[in-house]
Parts: sequence; C-alpha cells; structure tokens
Amino acid sequence: MAKPWTVLLRASFRDDADLPRYMQIAHGLIHEIERGRLLPGEYLPSSRDLATALAVNRKTIVTAYEELIAQGWLVSGGTRGTMVSTSLPSAESIAPAPLAAPFGDTEYPFLGPPDRPIAIAPGTWRKLDEGVPDGRLFPADPLARAYRKAVEQASRDNGLGYRDPRGLPRLRQEIAEMLRRQRGLMVTADHICITRGSQMGVFLTARVLIRPGDAVLVERLTHEPAVAAFRACGAKIVTVGLDEDGIDVADVERQCRRHRVRAIFVTPHHQFPTTVSMRPERRLRLLELARQFAFAVIEDDYDHEFHFGAQPLLPMASYAPARVIYAGSMSKLLVPALRIGYIAAAPQVIDALAYQISLIDGMGNSVTEDAAAELLATGEVRRHVRKTAQIYAARRDAFARSLEQEMADLVDYRLPDGGLAFWLRFRDIAALDRMEARAPEFGLSFASSHSYAADDSAERGLRIGFASLTEEEAREVLRTLRRCADK
Ligand SMILES: Cc1ncc(COP(=O)(O)O)c(C=O)c1O
Repeated sequence: MAKPWTVLLRASFRDDADLPRYMQIAHGLIHEIERGRLLPGEYLPSSRDLATALAVNRKTIVTAYEELIAQGWLVSGGTRGTMVSTSLPSAESIAPAPLAAPFGDTEYPFLGPPDRPIAIAPGTWRKLDEGVPDGRLFPADPLARAYRKAVEQASRDNGLGYRDPRGLPRLRQEIAEMLRRQRGLMVTADHICITRGSQMGVFLTARVLIRPGDAVLVERLTHEPAVAAFRACGAKIVTVGLDEDGIDVADVERQCRRHRVRAIFVTPHHQFPTTVSMRPERRLRLLELARQFAFAVIEDDYDHEFHFGAQPLLPMASYAPARVIYAGSMSKLLVPALRIGYIAAAPQVIDALAYQISLIDGMGNSVTEDAAAELLATGEVRRHVRKTAQIYAARRDAFARSLEQEMADLVDYRLPDGGLAFWLRFRDIAALDRMEARAPEFGLSFASSHSYAADDSAERGLRIGFASLTEEEAREVLRTLRRCADK
C-alpha cells in the first residue's frame, strides 16, 4: 500500500511549519498530482490506510481529502473511495518533464547553451587573473564606516526607496568631478550614468546603439566580454589590426568603406590585452574617421589610475566628447565586488541607458553608491590609489625580474607603462600549448590564450596580472608556469 509518494509526503512534513498538518498533506498531494505521480482517475488509499502510513490521526486525512474535493483536485468515488479528478489536464500536460529542457532552443534562442562559460571554475587552484587589484590591500574599515553612514543617513532622510536609474546624484557628481579634474573630461553629473560594473555599461551601450546586423569594429586582440556583449545585441563583429602603437587606423578606414560601422570598441589607455598605449596621432585619426563615417567610439578606460611611467595621455573622450562614449570602472580603483562602473556621454545617451536600467533592475544599489561617493569625497580613494600605485610599481618590477629568471628563453614582453598585467608572447607556440594543457595538473588556472583573439589570425599570448601577487607569490607562480611549459 505504501506507494513511494506516501513516503515522500511523510518526508515533507515540517513540525516547525505554521501550516496545519492536514494542509501539509493537501499540498503534498497537489504536488504529487502536478508531478504526475498521482494520475487523473487514480484512487487514493483509504483514509485509514494513509493515516497509518503517515502516522497521523485518521481525521487529519479525512480533512485533507475534503479540502481537496472542495478545491476540485479530488472527487469522491462512492464506495470505492476517493480518486484524483478526471477533469484535470493530463499529467503530461501539467507535469514539467524532470530532465528534458522545457523549451526548444530554436524558438527561444537565448535558452541555448551559452556561447562562453558563465561561471568562474570552482576549485582550490591558484587562479591567475588578467590584472585585478590585490583585495588584501583594500581599505575595508573606511568602506564599512561609509556603508554605515550611508544607511543611517538614507534612513533618516527616508531615502531607501526607489531612486534615479542613472545612479545616486552624489556619486554621479563625485565621478564627474574626478573625470574633470584628473582626466580632462568636460562633464557634469548629467553626463554620468552609474552601472553595475563597466561591463554592464558596455552592454547597455550596445543595446542602445546597435541594430541587428550593424558592424562593430574591435581590435584583433581585445576584451572578449565586450565582444560577447556586442554579439548578444546582434552586432556583426569586424576585426581590425593593431601593433605596438595601438590600433591600425588604415585598417579601420578600409573596414568603414566595406561595412556600415556603428561603433568601435577600444581601450586606448592600456590596450587590452597587449597593454600598449594608443599613440596620439592614431587617436586623432580614429576620431576623424569616426566623424567621417559617423560611428561612435566606445572608449573603455578600465584602469586609468595605474600608470607608472610618464604622465598618461588624456582619454579620447576629453577632446571629442560628442563622438566618444566613455566607460569607466571602480573595479581596479577599489575592487570588482563593489560592482561600480559608469558611462560618461552626452545626456541623450545617458537617458537612453537609464531607460534600459529602468527595465532591468529599476535602479542601482544606492547604498553602495553612497558609500563609494563617501570614499571619493573624503579622499580615501585618492590615498588608496597613491599607496597601491607604489606597491604595484614595485610588484611590476619584481614580476619582470622573475620573468627574466624563469621564462627569458620562452617569452617576449614589454614592461607595461601602466595597468596591472603583463602580456606574454611566446616564441614557440608549442611551449604555450604545453603550459595550457598542463596547468591544471600543477594547480594553476588562467584565462585561455584563445580568449583574446577576435579572429583566427590573431596571435595567441597570455595576459597575467601582477598586482594581486606579492613578490614571493609571483616567483612561485612563474616557476610553476615554467615547469608546465617544460618538455
Ligand atoms: C578591458 C576591461 N574593461 C573593463 C573591466 C572592468 O569590468 P567591470 O567594471 O565590469 O568589473 C575589465 C576588468 O577586468 C577589463 O579588463
């Protein structure tokens, strides 16, 4: 008599639940009908048998059955007992198939398997990054104080409700001021939209600029998440060359003559992944082409603060504000976990982005935004950057020394003037293949050398962040990488 579902019914009893036991049984039975384990027309055990199987009072079962009869799930079958109503839809039509995908991915294209991994691989491996700050140096106490202040203040001001989708005005003002003073952008808060990381800013920019089939130019080696965002918005990706001075502007012109180009994505300050700065004459030529062929320049200035050599060039957005959509981030300035990025652009673009945000999550995280504004306003961010820039400059030099020791015969590289990573080019691609194949055995994981290539002709290399590694850690990592590459 004790069918498997009676065992499951019993297992689902919760003594701490507010629901009376007869209701728990009624819900359990509905669940079994929905799952198709109890079929229309099927008789249920007698109230006495089920009471014994579930170790409850018979009255409890009678009450549960009566409730379900009243709701139309069960019907009384006279002397034969109580059965599942035959006027319910068939089990197949109401029960979700437990293992098969519920929707065909041809009808719902975004339900298919993702084009790229969506999660960071779990495991106890040492994960080498592509240039993130050392979270251990993060000013946790000032941030905690800033959060406390933000919550208390917002509560006092009744400011914990829904707010402007462009972001908290205070943070937009602080960021506008930072961009004006330190990067030469002529912006006010009206030119700023806060996003959850600059990746969201790039994605939303693609949403508002791109129609399916429009061409977006990217350098042959580039930041793959940006390319994925453009593709997700229907863009046709067209690649252009790059060299030691940045993007190949003649190639940009050639592609503009072939395709209807809507936008170009560039990282002129420190090219991702190769770290080179785009030379001034190329920046100017690129902007001329943007005017001539009427495309937008999406300038991703993800790690502006960390520049160790001469004074960095000003962003392109500082001298061509109408053509450039400027994406910035606090992921390198502070840490990625804060998820604070921003777009600086003409107010018309900002409003279009804010409309997209209003569709997605209504607004950002105003408490985090206020805490970040506090860190900017009190000078905490400036002090943190000053301190970490010195540490990272020393780590860059130490990393280079270890590279010389461990891999001088395998790789070519330039000491990066700024940013938080090295770009390693391999003299013998077989050594790179060995390194990638054997890294898991040695407990290392890092972004694939294929992930930077936007087309098949792009050279493969590794981008390894140095800022998050102490001198000793870097030495150990490079020694291990070397062992992975050895025959
Ligand atoms: C090229 C580039 N852009 C932007 C970002 C920052 O992304 P987010 O602000 O979404 O954390 C990164 C981070 O690694 C990056 O490498």
